[in-house]
This record gives sequence, structure tokens and C-alpha cells, in this order.
Amino acid sequence: MDSIPVLTIDGPSGAGKGTVAQLLAHRLGYHLLDSGAVYRAAGLHSLNAGADLTDEQSVMASLQSMKAQFKPNPDGVQVLLNGVDVSLDLRTESTASAASKVAAMPHVRASLLDEQRCFRVAPGLVADGRDMGTKVFPDAHLKVFLSASPRVRAGRRAKQLKDKGIHVTLESLIQEIAARDERDSSREHSPLVAAHDALVIDSSDMAASEVVEQILTALQVEAG
Ligand code: C5P
Repeated sequence: MDSIPVLTIDGPSGAGKGTVAQLLAHRLGYHLLDSGAVYRAAGLHSLNAGADLTDEQSVMASLQSMKAQFKPNPDGVQVLLNGVDVSLDLRTESTASAASKVAAMPHVRASLLDEQRCFRVAPGLVADGRDMGTKVFPDAHLKVFLSASPRVRAGRRAKQLKDKGIHVTLESLIQEIAARDERDSSREHSPLVAAHDALVIDSSDMAASEVVEQILTALQVEAG
């Protein structure tokens, strides 16, 4: 087991993983992996390269020319794709949809594994995504599965997008999130499921700070 501690937070979109992961990384002084940004970068790059997102070979060929850099900043992460800052483009629902299409492809997932594991650097890592506890860091010290009702999640996502100047209707967002959840949960490779040893938290009626406190308490219990 790698001795560098990892705390994983998995769950569907809009469950609050990003906010909670950022707060935890700050509190613990750990590094942060927003693995969704890694898949979004792959989806956006494939789209820009004109790849056929229904064809794994076409997507894999386009990824040969992808050079992605992830630089943490106070808002989360700044992402450069082949030297161009795409941080804003990365947040649109069309990029999210492209991400979830390429994320269903096993060779794409395999090609991004090392990239994600490289984030495990002392003094520790908080990793958020869909398969952080089940696949990328199965030896994580604490695994959390964070969920919330679909309406709450769509509302949170709408607010996040609005804050970034991207306007969407709640109804269209609910539909897009439902389609993405369905694709993420039903895919054959690394589907969105809680690890058997995960602490499951429903954040529908909780503030991010309350979720953070619950996880910190669990971490202390875990550390004995
Ligand atoms: O978390 P975020 O909404 O940024 O993720 C975008 C998409 O990337 C997800 O809908 C999912 O399909 C994919 N993803 C994944 N595995 C991860 C993180 C994200 O498949 N660990």
C-alpha cells in the first residue's frame, strides 16, 4: 500500500464533490485531483479535433495529440490544452456530455489512469470523481460516496454555471444530468457505484461545511 494518504470522493454530478473536495484539501493541506476535469479535457480535445465520439479508435487517435496541463488555483483548476487555457469551455454541458461519452471507452480510461495517479504526492491527496475509490485509488485511506436528489443537484449545477456566466434552464439541466447519470452508471467499465467500503453521505439537506465536518470526523476515527 502506498503510504501517501488519499481521500476519495465519488458520486454523481452536482452532489457537491468539487466544493467539498476543495475545502477538504485546503483544511488538510493536501493536493487536489479533479478527475472530471481530466475527462472533460479529453472530451473537449476529441470534439475540437473532429473525432467521432461514437468511435473509440477515432477518439484514441485524437488523444495522441493532446497535451493537457492542470494547474490548481483558488477557483479549482486551470486547464491548458496544448497551451490554450480552456478552463471556461471545460465547464459547459456540451463538454460534460462529450466527457461522459469518451469516459465510457475502456482504452480512453486506461490511457488516463497514470495521469491521475501522478497526483498522489506527499503530504496527501483528495481525489474527486466517479471511480476514485473503486478503480484509481482502491487503497485509499477513506472513501466517500456523496449523493443528493436529482433536483438539488441540477439546482447546484445551475448556480455554478450562472456564477461562471453560463446560463441554462433548470429543466434542460435536469434532463442533461439524468442522461449523463444514466450513461455513467450503466457503462461496463468503471461505472458510477459506491465502493463497498465507502462512507455514503446524502448531501441534499446539508451545507458543504457540514459534509466536510462529517468526513473529517470519519478520518479521525479511521486514523484511530
Ligand atoms: O465530475 P464532472 O461532471 O466534471 O465529470 C464529467 C464527466 O467525466 C462525468 O459525467 C463522467 O462521465 C466522467 N468522469 C468519469 N470518471 C471520473 C470523473 C469523471 O467517468 N473519475
